[in-house]
Amino acid sequence: MLEIEGKLQAELARGIEALQTVANAESLEAWKQEFLGKKSLVMQVYGSMGKLAKEERPIIGKAVNQAKAGLEAALAEKEEGIKAASQQEAFTKETLDVTLPGRKPRRGRIHPLHLTLRQIYRIFGDMGFQIYRSPEVETDDYNFTFLNMPPYHPARDMWDTFYTDKEGVVLRTHTSPGQVRVMRERAPENIRVILPGTTMRYEQLTARSEIEFIQVELLVVGKGITFADMRGTLNDFARRTFGENARTRLRPSFFPFTEPSAEMDVECFVCGGEGCGVCKGTGWLEILGCGMVHPTVLRYGGYDPEVYSGFAAGMGIDRSTLMRYHIDDIRHFRNNDIRFLEQF
Ligand code: DAH
Repeated sequence: MLEIEGKLQAELARGIEALQTVANAESLEAWKQEFLGKKSLVMQVYGSMGKLAKEERPIIGKAVNQAKAGLEAALAEKEEGIKAASQQEAFTKETLDVTLPGRKPRRGRIHPLHLTLRQIYRIFGDMGFQIYRSPEVETDDYNFTFLNMPPYHPARDMWDTFYTDKEGVVLRTHTSPGQVRVMRERAPENIRVILPGTTMRYEQLTARSEIEFIQVELLVVGKGITFADMRGTLNDFARRTFGENARTRLRPSFFPFTEPSAEMDVECFVCGGEGCGVCKGTGWLEILGCGMVHPTVLRYGGYDPEVYSGFAAGMGIDRSTLMRYHIDDIRHFRNNDIRFLEQF
């Protein structure tokens, strides 16, 4: 037996013994350096294989392979053991009392504006209306021109808006631009949609108005749609919203995008029509604007006004939500005050 064979056997025995005192990751690392690292006997023998005499080579090769395999096997076993031990330690240290009651997740609530929206969706959904989304950032054309307000027309002042740095791009002041978007997408099909969404207006912040609010637009287009269809649809909506006996009235009005135009009032549900603070003594609450879609708007939408007709309406939901829940300031809606929001 060659001297080096004996040395390698001794090295293996020494390594296995040394491993017994290893108890953590750091000392394991040191052990690896010593017995299997670059400067270890095993690795040095590997390094010198080339210089060995031909007949020694297989003998020493076998011995060093055995020593290395032995050390590696011992190491693997140790690593396993250390891992199991640290896991065991974690189990005992981080005990979990599964009998403790769980933490209750905090449940969110539906924002009052969305409660109103949901009710509106339900009512018009029952009448076969689809919900259509259209952009909050609009072009000047959709917000004005296609709604029969050409550039520089004074009617634009009623819907003055926020202009952006980009020429012809504005924040929509009403959901009406969506009318032309649906028409252009659907023409010449029949249309029965509502278009809900955020609208923005260049306005002073007060308890009754904000620069941001929500509108729901209504659009019906088809052959032979009449003012009576509009009246019936809106009355049904009012009854389902304000009660079976809610009285409504239409007042003549003006909007560039409808002809004829009207505003619909509902009898004040606070005083029952007698006159109070909420209805400012009139007994009526204005709830929406409406009318027969103007021929120019139909044409911009791709419908021939000689063949098709339609009605449209638009309502803001912020004020009616104020009334519905007796909220005294419109700014509560977007203040994100949890004390307010938790009441719904
Ligand atoms: N867009 C109008 C506004 O914001 C509301 C409106 C009135 C919409 C009459 C309509 C309509 O569709 O027919 O004041």
